[in-house]
Amino acid sequence: MASPAGRLLTLEGGEGAGKSTQLARLAAFLEGRGIAVERTREPGGTEGAEAIRALLLEGGAERWSPACELLLVCAARRDHLEKRIEPALAAGRWVLCDRYLDSTRVYQGIAGGLGLELVDRLQQELLGFRLPDLTILLDLPVEQGLARRHGQGGASRFERKGTSFHEKVRAGFLELARAEPDRFLLIDAARPVELVAAEIAAKVAARFGLRA
Ligand code: TYD
Repeated sequence: MASPAGRLLTLEGGEGAGKSTQLARLAAFLEGRGIAVERTREPGGTEGAEAIRALLLEGGAERWSPACELLLVCAARRDHLEKRIEPALAAGRWVLCDRYLDSTRVYQGIAGGLGLELVDRLQQELLGFRLPDLTILLDLPVEQGLARRHGQGGASRFERKGTSFHEKVRAGFLELARAEPDRFLLIDAARPVELVAAEIAAKVAARFGLRA
């Protein structure tokens, strides 16, 4: 018997929004309902894409122009889709990905100034534009996210880009969520972890007909 197709769920948001914590919580919730889950992240998720991730995140804020960043993240994403995401979905697994193509649309397209049209066209041509079944957007005021992050030390290239860049990132994600209200789940992430995790679990359960 052919296995049922899996689902692709992505988590998006600005710096320090708590995506990795919430991804782990959601994975545990789904596994508790007998679902086979594959946890991954972007840029990254395969050996080659993790090498590209290091190139992207290390160095000064101006090391790469937004166009170079776009080409690097697309190369990483293509490898990730070919070697990991598509095979997992075909095997009926649910893929939970920490950042995905909406990060590119926002960081390179909107905040980086390349424009959504170019980014979407490139992703469509090169990546088949596989859209997530659901995208969970963790929204948080910029100052709060950056403060959480600086508490953890070791800022990446993107964290060094300054507050006005990150304000554009936040506004960009909210714009994408408004444009596709059925695909996006907008979550207020400025609340305690437990509350955020419970809201995500309840809404994912309702969306996919799972036990709450
Ligand atoms: P990461 O440490 O994963 O950030 P966070 O913990 O906040 O999720 O670093 C990923 C960085 O790469 C993040 O600053 C956003 C950036 N990025 C892009 O600019 N474009 C992309 O397509 C992706 C996937 C990430």
